[in-house]
Amino acid sequence: MCGIVGYVGKKEAVSKLVKGLKTLEYRGYDSAGIALLQSEKIVVVKDKGRIANLEKSLDYNNLKGTIGIAHTRWATHGVPSKENAHPHMDQNKHFAVVHNGIIENYLELKNQLIKEGFSFQSETDTEVIPVLMEYYYQKYQDVMQAFQCTLKDLRGSYAILVISPLLPNTILVAKKGSPLVIGKGNDGIYIASDIPAIIEYTKDFYFLEDGESAIISDSLTFYNHDFQKIDKNSKTIEWEIDAIDKNGFDDYMLKEIHEQPEALKNTLNGIISFNQPVQFVGFALNKSYLENLKHIYIVACGTAMHAGLVGKLAIEKLCRIPVTVEVASEFRYRDPIIDQSTLCIFISQSGETADTIAALKLAHEKGAKTIAISNVFESSITREADHTLYTHAGPEIAVASTKAYISQVGLIVAFAIYMSEVLEISVSLSNELKKGLIDLPNLMGIVISHEDQYKKIAKKLVNETDLFYIGRGNDYHIAMEGSLKLKEISYIHSEAYPAGELKHGPIALIDKGTFVFGIITDPNIAEKTLSNLEEVKSRGANIILITNQNLKVEHVINIPNINPIISPILAIIPLQFIAYFIAKEKGLDVDKPRNLAKSVTVE
Ligand code: AGP
Ligand code: GLU
Repeated sequence: MCGIVGYVGKKEAVSKLVKGLKTLEYRGYDSAGIALLQSEKIVVVKDKGRIANLEKSLDYNNLKGTIGIAHTRWATHGVPSKENAHPHMDQNKHFAVVHNGIIENYLELKNQLIKEGFSFQSETDTEVIPVLMEYYYQKYQDVMQAFQCTLKDLRGSYAILVISPLLPNTILVAKKGSPLVIGKGNDGIYIASDIPAIIEYTKDFYFLEDGESAIISDSLTFYNHDFQKIDKNSKTIEWEIDAIDKNGFDDYMLKEIHEQPEALKNTLNGIISFNQPVQFVGFALNKSYLENLKHIYIVACGTAMHAGLVGKLAIEKLCRIPVTVEVASEFRYRDPIIDQSTLCIFISQSGETADTIAALKLAHEKGAKTIAISNVFESSITREADHTLYTHAGPEIAVASTKAYISQVGLIVAFAIYMSEVLEISVSLSNELKKGLIDLPNLMGIVISHEDQYKKIAKKLVNETDLFYIGRGNDYHIAMEGSLKLKEISYIHSEAYPAGELKHGPIALIDKGTFVFGIITDPNIAEKTLSNLEEVKSRGANIILITNQNLKVEHVINIPNINPIISPILAIIPLQFIAYFIAKEKGLDVDKPRNLAKSVTVE
């Protein structure tokens, strides 16, 4: 969580830092701050609330300096407040630090430092970093030694930037378990939690591995975890600046919903073509490996886990290999049965989700082959996995995931087809799905074009306090994702249930006027779900049906017909729109819902 930006260069830093923070605001937004090196002193400005609030306190005319660091916070230790906002400094103002992550042994360190006579101003774990640096600086009178000793003492996860008047023209950087990228631009060197914050200035990026650190001034010096100098090559990232603009839309979420056909097309480009076997560049599994595979796990969190559920259905249908889908935070602590005959797939848009990465490490230790599905090039998960398959959805900024979800679904179905082709089974179903995936972007365009219908339905639902989403098979998986979207951005309570399970308890909650979304895209089970909808209707519920079948219900959203294995890609769209329009109607901040952050880098 949280966003970090740093700049060392020839130009004034403040406006660059604020601009970078704004791009990163989706990562955390409870407080923000910046620190500049100005006339050999550190100047800090910080405040509670959004970056817009911080901006009001910034006196651009007097904040001069070409070196600075900045932070937008998602609090883990200490309430969101001005005191707890980053940057944090030691009492002698020798070091200013911004930090993303958690220092797990901060209490122990804090108590030791208090015993040594140091004092603290905040409740954060982060503050031990500048204070520890000052402690070691007083001991050794050497900033680099102080930095290295401090890093050795820290347990937990961090991306850290440090500035100090004792080391002018320099930012010290370290990374362990939290994201950090370094970009070399024409007018200086930029550091950020994520590529979009600085893509405007450069396309050449350096990526630190966990445990590595760097000294950044007019040049770059990298160190390994033993603080030995190392060489690093930059990598070129071809994202365009347009990708992080709202392009005339009110919100990123609305823009990203509209970008879904393109996101799917880009993700499957080069992988799927009709009458050709599915292929992944630089990646292959052989037939005997797949024949000996006993079990596949798909592990992820939130929306990515919902994409995994669609993947399970596809893999089991096409390949007849048992698949278990699990939430990463559960998987990692329950000693799952994994060995070399297990394949583990980890899905993460950001590639930075702490639980998913920990689950991946566990699977590795137990000897399984690991595949990551991620949307972010060089993100942490991609470095841990044996192989990464990338979704090419482009940067997803809105906290509520939309285009990444449909890209994940498309990619995992393509992967299922790939495995079935290697196994030489399910040929006709594979061919039907390939054609379906090729047709989908056009069909998605049709669903998107009915935006006004979704807006009207949303208006009816604004004052509801409880909604239900029901379906069977993949329709249940869509229900889960639709319900999550609603909760996240409209703050309306909702439940997703397998349609047949309703009468085992939750139907007690159905009252006169309760709205229930039914999803029916699988003709084989359409009548079953329809009966369940009748059951809630006879108890007074209002039904809204999303279907590709010819069914008569009062409120129907018709979507194009496609094989139910890939129907989630179409059926989720109206539910995304409805959640969006309800949140808009309620005047909420759709892109930055309360209590949430885009990438969850803590457990
Ligand atoms: C999606 O709308 C949510 N914000 C959330 O559930 C998200 O999908 C989850 O945190 C996983 O994130 P990841 O894909 O970046 O790992
Ligand atoms: N743990 C730190 C804090 O609570 C950093 C949180 C973040 O990554 O935003 O301040």
